[in-house]
Amino acid sequence: MVLVVGGAGYIGSHMVRLLRERGVPHAVYDNFEEGYREAVAGSDIIEGDLRNPTDLDRALSGGRFDTVMHFAAYIEVGQSVREPARFYENNLIGVKNLVDAMVRYKTKRLVFSSTAAIFGNPVYTPIDEDHPKDPTSPYGDTKLAVERMLAAYDAAYGLKTVCLRYFNACGAWPDGSLGESHRVESHLIPLVLFAAMGKRPDIRVFGSDYPTPDGTCVRDYVHVVDLADAHLRALERLRGGGGSRAYNLGNGQGYSVREVIEVVRKVTGRPITVTEAPRRPGDPAVLVASSVRARGELGWSPAYPDLETIVGHAWAWHQGHPDGYA
Ligand SMILES: NC(=O)c1ccc[n+]([C@@H]2O[C@H](COP(=O)([O-])OP(=O)(O)OC[C@H]3O[C@@H](n4cnc5c(N)ncnc54)[C@H](O)[C@@H]3O)[C@@H](O)[C@H]2O)c1
Repeated sequence: MVLVVGGAGYIGSHMVRLLRERGVPHAVYDNFEEGYREAVAGSDIIEGDLRNPTDLDRALSGGRFDTVMHFAAYIEVGQSVREPARFYENNLIGVKNLVDAMVRYKTKRLVFSSTAAIFGNPVYTPIDEDHPKDPTSPYGDTKLAVERMLAAYDAAYGLKTVCLRYFNACGAWPDGSLGESHRVESHLIPLVLFAAMGKRPDIRVFGSDYPTPDGTCVRDYVHVVDLADAHLRALERLRGGGGSRAYNLGNGQGYSVREVIEVVRKVTGRPITVTEAPRRPGDPAVLVASSVRARGELGWSPAYPDLETIVGHAWAWHQGHPDGYA
């Protein structure tokens, strides 16, 4: 049985839906600080906080779970610069509490949500797993520290882990019944959709003089259901006796900020006001993943690589839920 930690959040709730569809027994562990009960209706829920070891004892002590999938973290990079203490406590100490409880109760497998932010400014693209790791934010630092901690826990305690480093997670459940509803939204596609919906006056483009074809930053957008599918494949690998491994997950194809805005205009048919703003410090020109390893070893291949499809699914969600979850 799988314990989905942070299962009520954006990516976790898509994971939970896919586990339900595939008939994989599971339960959700979440403190609902960011997640929503509505997103995981119908699944077993254990309300608890990673920062509270007693909650983890309650969840894991019965030995019901053979595998944990971890999605629970603070995710906003700018906030991590302003409030690093909260990020280290939740994203690093929280995971330490989790893996300590896993070791105590002999839960031997973990799939961990890592991020492209562990690499920092690219030295080359596409970014493969061996690319130098030099995060430029406390958020990226916490995720890299966890990856290193997990390697040490494998060597010392035999905890087997797959670290999945997502690039830009996006999209929604294809029928629009689940989607992205962060309380403070910082991701480009929902922000452009909010501009199309009139929920914000414009979309700001930070920098139009980058060395890219149209001068705006290029990012790798990977559909949230494809991320969930990669987790299922990682689960199979671990349950099949595979060793610890890390995989970069992206489409391998970049889209610029201007291309995203154009696709949102096309999909929604709505006008969008664009405001040009200066570059933001620390934004690399291009961040694109090499997912050759995931394709070769996990047999993973994104089902929804096309930006119009990604935006179409996100639009279906936002149209049906203009204010997010109730
Ligand atoms: N969204 C992206 O583009 C992206 C990209 C790379 C990596 N990631 C990683 O993927 C994971 C999920 O991201 P998301 O966008 O779904 O975030 P999210 O905020 O929507 O979901 C996180 C969930 O974890 C829960 N949670 C947080 N702290 C907790 C704690 N201490 N105890 C129990 N539950 C807790 C929240 O309530 C929420 O339900 C994160 O680890 C993030 O770092 C996300």
